[in-house]
Amino acid sequence: DGNPDPTRQVLAWYDRHHRDLPWRVSPAMAARGIRPDPYRVWLSEVMLQQTTVQAVKDYFARFTAKWPTVTDLARAETEEVMKAWAGLGYYARARNLKKCAETVAFEHGGRFPETEEGLKALPGIGDYTAAAIAAIAFQRQAAVLDGNVERVISRLHAVDAPLPGSKPLMRQLVAAMTPADRPGDFAQAMMDLGATICTPKRPACALCPVNASCKALAEHDPERFPVKAAK
Ligand code: ADE
Repeated sequence: DGNPDPTRQVLAWYDRHHRDLPWRVSPAMAARGIRPDPYRVWLSEVMLQQTTVQAVKDYFARFTAKWPTVTDLARAETEEVMKAWAGLGYYARARNLKKCAETVAFEHGGRFPETEEGLKALPGIGDYTAAAIAAIAFQRQAAVLDGNVERVISRLHAVDAPLPGSKPLMRQLVAAMTPADRPGDFAQAMMDLGATICTPKRPACALCPVNASCKALAEHDPERFPVKAAK
């Protein structure tokens, strides 16, 4: 039919408005066959669970300058890695980071597993990180759901159930939108939409590529979503 497909609208928006981040390959480069380095995708995703995009930039630059490959990180002194991590918080994450690098370097020949299941078997990699790496680094059709994506998807579909119970439904809704051809760009587009347009307070709905399909906007109350659990 003639209705625009929200997935294509999100991707077209990302082509024009994506944030240039040091661990990303731009859509234009991706179209020329350039693929992101799984090590950089993994490192950035682990760091981003901890802190903001802005704060991660400096840490990411220092880590990748000092340890350009996962094998370099695996061979580093734990002490050095902990020092480089200082300020990011949650030091268990840094220990898992080192353990994961060692597992990939010494048990997988320096190559990250390409499936969600394989990735989840690594130290410190949970559902979110496995899906993000599979989609962004390996072009797998994985449903990537973080806080930003939860906000976008809960508004788009006016999901009335509160988190965390609504998570399986939201994951289903994201899976249904995730395209086979550009799953990594789609995941990062949803994150960027949540970070820059579909914000917790005063979302910029006039600028949103999917405002015509957004049920929360149709109800004139996007800020009600994601629904908070009754106290
Ligand atoms: N937050 C977590 N992962 C991200 C990514 N790849 N791009 C932007 N924000 C993110």
